Amino acid sequence: MGLVRTLIDCDKEYAESALPQKLRELYDGDLHFRSSPAARPFVIANFVSTLDGVVSYEIDGKSGGSTISGSDPADRFIMGLLRASADAVIVGAGTLRDVSAKSLWTPEYAYPDAKHLYEEYRVNAQHKPEYPLLVIVSGTGRLELERAIFRTAAMRTVVITTSAGRDELARRGAATLDSVEVHALNSSSGSIAPREILELLQSQFGVKTLLHEGGPTLFGQFLAAEAVDELFLTLSPQIAGRGVDATRPAVVQGVQFVPDSAPWFQMVSVKQQAAYLYLRYRRT
Ligand SMILES: NC(=O)c1ccc[n+]([C@@H]2O[C@H](COP(=O)([O-])OP(=O)(O)OC[C@H]3O[C@@H](n4cnc5c(N)ncnc54)[C@H](OP(=O)(O)O)[C@@H]3O)[C@@H](O)[C@H]2O)c1
Repeated sequence: MGLVRTLIDCDKEYAESALPQKLRELYDGDLHFRSSPAARPFVIANFVSTLDGVVSYEIDGKSGGSTISGSDPADRFIMGLLRASADAVIVGAGTLRDVSAKSLWTPEYAYPDAKHLYEEYRVNAQHKPEYPLLVIVSGTGRLELERAIFRTAAMRTVVITTSAGRDELARRGAATLDSVEVHALNSSSGSIAPREILELLQSQFGVKTLLHEGGPTLFGQFLAAEAVDELFLTLSPQIAGRGVDATRPAVVQGVQFVPDSAPWFQMVSVKQQAAYLYLRYRRT
């Protein structure tokens, strides 16, 4: 019995299945990823948004994606499935600061019921390590190192930061954390170019498929750098609204395109459960 129902699937050209049978049943279909056409990892992104495009209420304790999705199980399942498919998961420091200190970016943290199915798919079928590499991007290096992601031996975490950020993390004791690596890259006004991040992840960590989990600021920069290949977007059936001067972000924050350069996407699949839609798009 599927957790979602497939309404449209334009990605049927593959002869062999990628997902083990039980995951294919839950997802109501298969899930293939291409290799990147460019000399960088293939980048897939995952967001959940309200019908009016809001991805965060920006209210203390209620700004995470689960408030937007209403903790929808199918959204959580797809999040876990994408994590299980990726070599690495990347998030910006703003997204990290808004989640519980216990949060882990593992497949089963998103959807515990499929823990063993994810493991079978990840380790036996794809021959990947138990967990994806977690990549945190921070210009300032102002991260709370007590968080579980920095203290879980089975998980490898890389912080990509600036030279000032590296100094700040050293001051906070990052060098004492066995599973954490800090890499300082060139930056312009504290902002590191997505291409440099991707180059590092490919050359030093062998990342071929990267899952981008936001937030909107980091994602906007990747989109502007033409470094996003696919977007998985859950459309949650609620409307958040925006005040005149409120800053409830959409999928992209801090970057605006003009019509001639705005990225367009083609549809790959549409799935549904109750009033939720699970959309998958590929960059044209
Ligand atoms: N609904 C969803 O699917 C979803 C998904 C993700 C996030 N969110 C929500 O979005 C909100 C966070 O939004 P956000 O835009 O602030 O998140 P963000 O992009 O995760 O974080 C922004 C921060 O990341 C660092 N950063 C981003 N780009 C950088 C670059 N190029 N170089 C160096 N550092 C960089 C900076 O950290 P420093 O300040 O340390 O320099 C920056 O302040 C949260 O409420 C979160 O829950 C929702």
